[in-house]
Amino acid sequence: MKIAMGSDHAGYPLKGKVAELIKELGHEVIDLGTHSEESVDYPDFAVKVAHAVTQGEADLGVLLCGTGLGMSIAANKVRGIRAVTCGDTFSARSSREHNDANMLCIGARVTGCGLALDIVKAWLEAEFKGGRHARRVQKIADIEASS
Ligand code: RB5
Repeated sequence: MKIAMGSDHAGYPLKGKVAELIKELGHEVIDLGTHSEESVDYPDFAVKVAHAVTQGEADLGVLLCGTGLGMSIAANKVRGIRAVTCGDTFSARSSREHNDANMLCIGARVTGCGLALDIVKAWLEAEFKGGRHARRVQKIADIEASS
């Protein structure tokens, strides 16, 4: 798969390690920045990665900021994005299986590197289960379309 990645300055120290893992798992990484620890605004990177996903340049997106929260709030403003912030592997796996999440956000100031890598692996290896979950995800899309 093609995985678009982005971070702000707080997520930057983790971005290289996550990118390395994603490549080890056999995927392609599209790194949309940031490229240093100089202070930047997380919505600028959330929207770049979100658009890469909704425009089909990437299959999924991974975003890293201090808490993982601002990134998900911003990414979820883009139509078609289902971004989740995860701090554990069960939620990460479930977000793919049940919610068809297409963007994963992690807080680099909250979640240690080892756990963050396990979360990314669990998320990428899980697959949407469809069935009753597809009906529920469609209802989310209906809310988005009517709002
Ligand atoms: C940056 O200081 C911090 O606000 C950002 O990384 C993120 O945690 C926002 O949600």
